[in-house]
Amino acid sequence: MLLVNIVYILLLLPGVISRHRSTIKITHSPITLPIAKRINATGIMKFVEADRARARALVHMVKMRGAGFTVRARSLTCPPREPAPAPAIPATNGLVQYTASVGVGSPASQFSLVIDTGSSNTWVGATKKFVKTSTSVQTSNRVAVTYGSGSFSGTEFTDRVTLSSTLVINNQGIGVASASSGFDEGVDGILGLGPTDLTLDTLSPATSTLIPTVIDNLFAQGTIPSRLVAISFEPTNSETITNGEITFGGIDSSKFTGAITFVPITTTSPANEFWGINQSVRYGTSTTILSTTAGIVDTGTVLLLLATNAITAYKKASGAVLDNTTGLLRLTTAQFAALQSLFFTIGGTTFELTANAQAWPRNLNADIGGTANNVYLIVGDLGTPSGEGLDFINGQTFIERFYTVFDTTNNRVGFATTPFTTATTN
Ligand SMILES: *[C@@H]1O[C@H](CO)[C@@H](O)[C@H](O)[C@H]1NC(C)=O
Ligand SMILES: *[C@@H]1O[C@H](CO)[C@@H](O)[C@H](O)[C@H]1NC(C)=O
Ligand SMILES: *[C@@H]1O[C@H](CO)[C@@H](O)[C@H](O)[C@H]1NC(C)=O
Repeated sequence: MLLVNIVYILLLLPGVISRHRSTIKITHSPITLPIAKRINATGIMKFVEADRARARALVHMVKMRGAGFTVRARSLTCPPREPAPAPAIPATNGLVQYTASVGVGSPASQFSLVIDTGSSNTWVGATKKFVKTSTSVQTSNRVAVTYGSGSFSGTEFTDRVTLSSTLVINNQGIGVASASSGFDEGVDGILGLGPTDLTLDTLSPATSTLIPTVIDNLFAQGTIPSRLVAISFEPTNSETITNGEITFGGIDSSKFTGAITFVPITTTSPANEFWGINQSVRYGTSTTILSTTAGIVDTGTVLLLLATNAITAYKKASGAVLDNTTGLLRLTTAQFAALQSLFFTIGGTTFELTANAQAWPRNLNADIGGTANNVYLIVGDLGTPSGEGLDFINGQTFIERFYTVFDTTNNRVGFATTPFTTATTN
């Protein structure tokens, strides 16, 4: 087991921002929260399997919502589920997680919650027990969510949620787990940063009720000027490298270089239910890996997952083979020396994922059951062909190289290069 706990700097950029056509003054914005990265490579599921399970759950959840799905269709396509309602929303795979310490109640208890842009319920209690305080209000609803490789069910409360001293949310809907599976010791639940619609059907009996997310409430309560979250992850190859931060309601210009390219949320289903975008992927100067298509950006997925046909093209171009010990694609060191960049074209801007950025941290080869002389790749097979409306997932290993902005207010996602985009870390 490898546990990477990294110390972050809490950065508060002072400033006064007044909201357009509003008298509400924002005293601190952007407001940032440190994020810890945690790697548990002893998990039973390998990265690829776990990431794929999440991808399947994600597509499945959207299909289940479509009209006309019969019970029979459900039983044919669904893995076993908890008693309804428990829509299969994908979440973290438990192997590599970015977590933030979040306070709940008054006085607040601190919970270590997974930063997840692929699901939207915020909940606690997987490991550490929730204790009612003066701000805790139990609702009459049960809450349940099934994730790609885990689940939780319990009771929906509203409570005070404290992200930092200046970032306090009153009456936030939170789930309090009475049962959960797939969450490691020390991980207490999820901070859901996905679109609000993903909370649909998670409550019972109030199935059609949406639960405003932490972003919705921070905005509604006048704490942040815009429904926007920006995330900085950084690559790591040891236990001592500084890692990430999340900024609420603004961007942290110290974390990226150049301009941010914004692209609208894709119109293609099911990617449009998440932080979905259109992009194309090229290998080297001219080899098409994936023609322009829809997929998602997701902090709860570890790898960069591409549709099976794209992976076939990538293997052919790079010489990579599937390593059946780790489940990852593998190169010899000679092949790695010749590996070319992947170029992602998003919203007219091309982002270069260098050869170095395509490698799993070599210092951590042993942790995934690999051998020192091989190079394992963080590009993996999504498990479905392209053309299905969700043909890639730009997961943590992508976000670690590009600053990412999740902008609910303007229905768009932004990317920018960072000092780590072209860094040699592997
Ligand atoms: C790591 O994952 C394994 C398998 O899922 C689990 O049994 C173990 O408790 C985890 N370790 C920690 C520290 O959470
Ligand atoms: C994304 O791609 C789809 C399919 O090619 C296209 O219909 C759509 O206009 C593109 N742009 C957006 C923002 O969805
Ligand atoms: C892994 O690969 C080796 C050699 O390529 C093969 O002999 C072995 O059967 C494979 N194991 C599995 C579990 O596929």
